[in-house]
Amino acid sequence: MFPSVDTYAFDLDRVRRAHARRRARHGAVAVFAVCVALWASGVSAQPADLAQGKRLFESQCGSCHGPLGNGGKGANLAQPRLRRASDDEALFNIIRRGIRGTEMPGSPLTPSQVSSIAAYVRTLGRVAPENIPGDRIQGQGVYASLDCARCHTVGGRGGVVGPGLGDIGARRSAAHLREALTDPAASVPSGFLQLRVVARDGRAFSGIRVNEDAFSVQFLDLQGRLHSFWKDELDVLDQQWQRSPMPSYAGRLTADETDDLVAYLVSLKGVTDE
Ligand code: HEC
Ligand code: HEC
Repeated sequence: MFPSVDTYAFDLDRVRRAHARRRARHGAVAVFAVCVALWASGVSAQPADLAQGKRLFESQCGSCHGPLGNGGKGANLAQPRLRRASDDEALFNIIRRGIRGTEMPGSPLTPSQVSSIAAYVRTLGRVAPENIPGDRIQGQGVYASLDCARCHTVGGRGGVVGPGLGDIGARRSAAHLREALTDPAASVPSGFLQLRVVARDGRAFSGIRVNEDAFSVQFLDLQGRLHSFWKDELDVLDQQWQRSPMPSYAGRLTADETDDLVAYLVSLKGVTDE
């Protein structure tokens, strides 16, 4: 169920045991033990902590971050690098204290519960190696023939209406990618909001919101062109939550083509290219 558990930095029990030893023995030897424990905590953690972390995550965090951690009202945590929780200490503090000025709340959990959740959160960014049927080279051909690059970039090339896919295989599970192809509106990544806009002069657009404040809105149309309007220039500004401009490919791909395309997407683990 879990990705390999070789490098989790959180093993608070170990640190605690080290503190206990320090209390028991005092002096330089114990300080040395703490250092060793801190060092060792970087390379191992008990799988039991992860199981507890998963349970706690599902009950305390899943409502906002999604049961799989890949986002909802809260940020997508299932990615290799987290914007604010850039290292383990920051992650621990965020879970404990929340992020002031945002919807991310602090928690009354104990330090050991926080550390097991943190360890679990770190696993979310490393999607377990799955057995993926399909041929990624064939899949690359399917990607090209369906012109996915009209809306998506891989390796810096392509359109910008959809999210960059250059590291999608590192961020998402194969199951999620399969669903994205057949039911794109099912799990729109946070940050994506489809708009329908009709200007006073009669021009109508569908697009993806880039920015909006009380007076103006900026969006990309489906050709990737940026538009900016004052709100008083608009007749309609319709926020289409849970809708996606991405067409569904259900019924347009054979089972083999779907497998191949998913295998190709899973293989994209490079650097971000948005
Ligand atoms: C009420 C909704 C809510 C709950 C519950 C919640 N979060 Fe959050 N969380 C958010 C929001 C919203 C953000 C984004 C804050 C921002 O950056 O503006 C966030 C951000 C984060 C971040 C920073 C992500 C980054 O990109 O660095 C982490 C880590 C995090 N949450 C973990 C957790 C964990 C673990 C739990 C459960 C203990 C949890 N959150 C519970 C709403 C929530
Ligand atoms: C008309 C533009 C458009 C086309 C064409 C398009 N997509 Fe998308 N795609 C989007 C948008 C916008 C999103 C983000 C909203 C969503 O998830 O539905 C998206 C989301 C995705 C996601 C999920 C990303 C994530 O972070 O979860 C994947 C995977 C994906 N597209 C793959 C493809 C593939 C493969 C093709 C070609 C078969 C394709 N798309 C064609 C616009 C498009």
